Amino acid sequence: MRQQFLVISAFHEDIIEIAETLNMFHVGNQWMIFVLDMVARDFDAGTVTINLDEGANIAFALNETEPNCQDSLNCTISEISLALVDAISKITVEEESIYGEISDEEWEAIRFTKQEKQSEILGYMKEFLKTNAKCSSCARWRVETAITWGKSQENRKFRSTPQRDAKNRNFEFINIGYWTPVLGFVCQELAFPHIEHHFRNITMDILTVHNPPWQILTKNSNGDIVEHKGIVMEIVKELSRALNFSYYLHEASSWKEEDSLSTSAGGNESDELVGSMTFRIPYRVVEMVQGNQFFIAAVAATLDDPDQKPFNYTQPISVQKYSFITRKPDEVSRIYLFTAPFTVETWFCLMGIILLTAPTLYAINRLAPLKEMRIVGLSTVKSCFWYIFGALLQQGGMYLPTADSGRLVVGFWWIVVIVLVTTYCGNLVAFLTFPKFQPGVDYLNQLEDHKDIVQYGLRNGTFFERYVQSTTREDFKHYLERAKIYGSAQEEDIEAVKRGERINIDWRINLQLIVQRHFERDKECRFALGRESFVDEQIAMIVPAQSAYLHLVNRHIKSMFRMGFIERWHQMNLPSAGKCNGKSAQRQVTNHKVNMDDMQGCFLVLLLGFTFALLIVCGEFWYRRFRASRKRRQFTN
Ligand SMILES: *[C@@H]1O[C@H](CO)[C@@H](O)[C@H](O)[C@H]1NC(C)=O
Ligand SMILES: *[C@@H]1O[C@H](CO)[C@@H](O)[C@H](O)[C@H]1NC(C)=O
Ligand SMILES: *[C@@H]1O[C@H](CO)[C@@H](O)[C@H](O)[C@H]1NC(C)=O
Ligand SMILES: *[C@@H]1O[C@H](CO)[C@@H](O)[C@H](O)[C@H]1NC(C)=O
Ligand SMILES: *[C@@H]1O[C@H](CO)[C@@H](O)[C@H](O)[C@H]1NC(C)=O
Ligand SMILES: *[C@@H]1O[C@H](CO)[C@@H](O)[C@H](O)[C@H]1NC(C)=O
Repeated sequence: MRQQFLVISAFHEDIIEIAETLNMFHVGNQWMIFVLDMVARDFDAGTVTINLDEGANIAFALNETEPNCQDSLNCTISEISLALVDAISKITVEEESIYGEISDEEWEAIRFTKQEKQSEILGYMKEFLKTNAKCSSCARWRVETAITWGKSQENRKFRSTPQRDAKNRNFEFINIGYWTPVLGFVCQELAFPHIEHHFRNITMDILTVHNPPWQILTKNSNGDIVEHKGIVMEIVKELSRALNFSYYLHEASSWKEEDSLSTSAGGNESDELVGSMTFRIPYRVVEMVQGNQFFIAAVAATLDDPDQKPFNYTQPISVQKYSFITRKPDEVSRIYLFTAPFTVETWFCLMGIILLTAPTLYAINRLAPLKEMRIVGLSTVKSCFWYIFGALLQQGGMYLPTADSGRLVVGFWWIVVIVLVTTYCGNLVAFLTFPKFQPGVDYLNQLEDHKDIVQYGLRNGTFFERYVQSTTREDFKHYLERAKIYGSAQEEDIEAVKRGERINIDWRINLQLIVQRHFERDKECRFALGRESFVDEQIAMIVPAQSAYLHLVNRHIKSMFRMGFIERWHQMNLPSAGKCNGKSAQRQVTNHKVNMDDMQGCFLVLLLGFTFALLIVCGEFWYRRFRASRKRRQFTN
């Protein structure tokens, strides 16, 4: 909400006071105040604005009219005549200088017309009056404006000691110009410079903490910050461009360092967890922000209970969700792959129709009215069965019934065979191409069904822990009760996750980072992330309480969102949606080579056939022996 006010009143002090209590002095509003009934010398802008906060845009017009200047007709007449004489003499000199150098004809061509001469003379007169006017009118108003924005956050290196001990002690009042009836408004600066130039290129103090990927600080050997990037830093850079300030970064220690200081464990690089957390705000940051010495704390902080905090959060700049990581479910064994295309019922029905079709064919063949139409090869149920079985495998059509009835049976059987074989082949290809997996943990409430997962892990310092206290989701509460809180890579025990004994909860982006690292190292995907993302954690920056610029900052963050900057910075800084899922995984599937796993069932069937054949051979051998011995016995009898 931007409003402009013009105050022309003898009671400006009261008006300022009342407007202040109504919170009408803020970064959007502009106040122009004419100070009446007072000469400029007696006016002190400092006392009038004593209760104003930073960020106010206020300017004063002061009466600087000379009280004892002579203002008479005599004076004006003489002044004007003087101006006319001066103008004519100037123009004459000018003309003469040109006339002396050129011929008459040329002069006729270029000399001024009457109109031109007239305007030339008037111009000279105005110029003369501007510099020399003494008596036309003595009115003169000086305009003073307050430079307030960023005054208490301005870099300490350049900050002078405050002159007053009041709210407005850092205000600076500058003379931007004056107004007179003859010259109009003469100014060397905007009346409200902050509206146009915002912070006017001052250097602000900004507090930050190293916390990749939000704030990434690179330091040189002296400990000075030489480079800063990350999502939050990109926002700060854009703010500084849009609000016209430069900044000086002050680093506070992060809570990891605070922790390690208190426990004096010493940093163990290899033991650090990957990824980041924003729930715990370092104690030093909170402490330092409270003094209103910093424009903004450029730290990513989880929005939590904003009304209870001694500072204010900005508009959220990001939303992060939690997920869990488990072992990727194994593929279903492929030994029965060749049976997979049909269900068990279908297989039984298939057997059924073979057993049914064989006698039918036999009967039809037997019932043929003419003897020569009966085919010898189909004269027993057994041979009919072998015939039908062979046809199913598209083989062995040695004889064909000559009667139309028999032909119909065989023909329709072939149609059935075509349908069966086509569906089987097609489905087999599909089952080969898309491997099936055992059921994994897609949602947290499925955990109960997975008894092999015995350890539950939760990263230390998560908003999740806090959230569970107020949630109604039983599976979260149950999880938290059993969970071990881990704070180091050793306790995180990612190897146990890999073995399928453990599940860990963390930010989804952190888990993606783990998956990515393992993929880069081992070139295989052993982990699965939950399909479910839960608990929206809002992340914002911090400004001091009662900061005048909160709304301004929020407005710019909003416009950065609308322009897609923030999304772009997220893409640049956060791990992308995993190498192990999505497109790359798909490609792996389509390139699937048929391996021993797929073919073992097929070989097994062959083996089974051989075994059966061997058994039958033995049976037949024994049967022949039995028949022969019986014959011999008959013979001997
Ligand atoms: C400005 O000051 C002059 C001289 O002190 C005074 O005569 C005049 O009335 C003042 N103008 C206003 C608008 O107060
Ligand atoms: C104006 O000037 C004339 C001649 O110089 C003088 O006689 C007259 O008194 C002056 N008038 C005023 C009001 O000063
Ligand atoms: C920033 O402030 C400086 C100082 O007032 C001004 O000269 C400059 O034009 C401003 N830049 C922008 C982009 O407003
Ligand atoms: C803004 O300030 C920086 C450093 O104080 C300076 O390098 C730069 O030239 C200034 N820009 C303008 C437009 O005044
Ligand atoms: C750091 O971690 C490694 C491996 O976990 C361990 O061998 C070493 O003792 C640790 N060092 C310290 C100082 O804790
Ligand atoms: C800033 O924080 C204070 C105290 O926590 C709160 O009362 C106030 O409403 C907040 N201001 C804004 C603009 O959110």
